[in-house]
Amino acid sequence: MAMKSIVLVSLLVVVFASSQAEAQVPSVSGSLININGTIFCSLNGNIVPYAVTPTPAFANALVQVTCGGNVVASTITNAAGIFNIFLNPLQFLLSSVLSSCQVVVATPLASCNASLPAVGFLQAPLQLAGTTVLGILNVVNLVPAVFQIIQV
Ligand SMILES: *[C@@H]1O[C@H](CO)[C@@H](O)[C@H](O)[C@H]1NC(C)=O
Ligand SMILES: *[C@@H]1O[C@H](CO)[C@@H](O)[C@H](O)[C@H]1NC(C)=O
Repeated sequence: MAMKSIVLVSLLVVVFASSQAEAQVPSVSGSLININGTIFCSLNGNIVPYAVTPTPAFANALVQVTCGGNVVASTITNAAGIFNIFLNPLQFLLSSVLSSCQVVVATPLASCNASLPAVGFLQAPLQLAGTTVLGILNVVNLVPAVFQIIQV
């Protein structure tokens, strides 16, 4: 019993100490990072210009944010192909997100149009799209730049 309490107390101390350490980060870096965009059902994820039938949105697509090859966040596009991902500013520094993170559309394009590739995935680097203020929070908006299909 005594042993258990000691373990619990030291665990609490460790958790508290690490949250204290993290809590100091925002004053240095600061902003909430919002990544959003719209994915369309085409070879580059964009609207096909001058198409006879308007390019449909890519609904229910798995969108991931990967940094250095690791998936750090993910979501699903809505019926209009829109996705939105917030990154915790305690864990991500804007400069490193811009330099080492990508947006990946992991669902194969064939799932929205059988004529499109069933293997490979769309990938785009991130670019700044401005900042907005949300209450006391500063929000940095990022959007995917040009998507390319990555063969696997
Ligand atoms: C992305 O977020 C920005 C800023 O909040 C907004 O203006 C824009 O319409 C959003 N785009 C999509 C596709 O949701
Ligand atoms: C499906 O993809 C093919 C090949 O890119 C294209 O010609 C066709 O218009 C697409 N269909 C729709 C409904 O977008």
